[in-house]
Amino acid sequence: MNITVIGTGYVGLVTGVCFAETGINVVCVDIDEKKIEKLRKGEVPIYEPGLDVLLERSIDKGRISFTTNLKKGIKDSDAVFIAVGTPPDEDGSADLKYVLGVAREIGQHMEDYKVIITKSTVPVGTSYKVKAAVEEELSNRNVRIPFDVASNPEFLKEGSAVDDFLKPDRIVVGVESKRAEKVMRKLYKPFLMNGHPLLFMDIFSSEMTKYAANSMLATKISFMNDIANLCELVGANVDLVRKGIGSDSRIGNKFIYPGTGYGGSCFPKDVQALVRTADEYGHSLEVLKAVENVNYRQKSVLVEKIKAHFGDNLKGKQFGLWGLSFKPKTDDMREAPSLVIIDQLKALGANIRAYDPVAMEETQRILGDKIEYAKDEYDAIIEADALIVVTEWSEFRMPNFRILDKLMNEKLIFDGRNIYDPEEMREIGYTYYSIGRNV
Ligand code: UGA
Repeated sequence: MNITVIGTGYVGLVTGVCFAETGINVVCVDIDEKKIEKLRKGEVPIYEPGLDVLLERSIDKGRISFTTNLKKGIKDSDAVFIAVGTPPDEDGSADLKYVLGVAREIGQHMEDYKVIITKSTVPVGTSYKVKAAVEEELSNRNVRIPFDVASNPEFLKEGSAVDDFLKPDRIVVGVESKRAEKVMRKLYKPFLMNGHPLLFMDIFSSEMTKYAANSMLATKISFMNDIANLCELVGANVDLVRKGIGSDSRIGNKFIYPGTGYGGSCFPKDVQALVRTADEYGHSLEVLKAVENVNYRQKSVLVEKIKAHFGDNLKGKQFGLWGLSFKPKTDDMREAPSLVIIDQLKALGANIRAYDPVAMEETQRILGDKIEYAKDEYDAIIEADALIVVTEWSEFRMPNFRILDKLMNEKLIFDGRNIYDPEEMREIGYTYYSIGRNV
């Protein structure tokens, strides 16, 4: 089988490389010449564990190729995945110009039957807009070539995307013909070894599933953050409450960790887009609106604690900050809580010296010399009046506190991810603030 993946961003590249791993011939298309040049040499433009090894293997075996020429790229393919970006426009709804632009180009160049699959996260109804765009181009050419559209949302987590793709919890595919279903079944067969389902449904339901999944996950987080804040007020410990409720299999013990609010390129954008879609249909999604508000507030929770400790004026105060990316194992800074925290602390006059295992370059690109950049976690806390933990990278979990004692001005930690034990912190003489467990 031959497939084409259009867009070599994080979703497109993982999709292409993982399909190639099964022996399928994959052509990846992107308009960015430089990126394509790099990919041809096996250079991965993003940080995603395992992706480089798989890419190199597929290049060596000749199962994957890269081009900027869409016409050539789709020539022999049975299925074309559209995985280009859908950035939010000013009002929060997804901007479809890239998706529909690609659809039109496919319509201009296709010569035989193809399944055209929307992989990007798109509002309900978009796959039918893709269909209309392709049909329009075919009719402009005065040709009748059969094709099908399909929706195939991704559920990849940054940092474990390769594993998520190769061993999915489920695969959701929205189709409207048996012919397309057959192609999709064949493509995904190699990924069903773990017995998890390949779910076929109508296209509207498939598109909706993606938004409902991310919104449900975001709801769990905001709910837990709200409960954590209340725990502090009533004198409860959210760690225990989390275990107490998570043991109920109807609730589950995953995704109920409080923190500094959810970030990344998906949850904030998708929650916002679903709220917008509902508003357009005259239905107000009250729960999700609250989820957004709670998340907005949560990004300031650490700064509130810092202000409560030091007062509103932080001039001359030095902070060491650990973790910049929106979560561990990625260099993605999109909607990262660290950016809000840095902004607020700087506005109060603080100095910040930060360290992240992989997101230093990306942060420097965004923040320039607004903060200082440390060479490692210990370098970040030299003469610091406090350490602020923002992202729970594994290497921050067991620091040598003797070194911290020597380097820092004060034994003071603000932990936005609850990675240390409050009891142990007390024992070694630290003033320790965390989320939802100041008991
Ligand atoms: C998310 C979904 O988990 C994926 O299933 C989905 O495919 C992806 O969005 C997408 O739409 O492309 P991702 O954004 O990579 O994946 O990150 P997550 O691991 O889900 O974390 C999202 C945010 O929630 C992070 O800021 C994380 O720190 C926060 N989080 C997560 C918590 O605060 N508490 C938790 O218990 C779990």
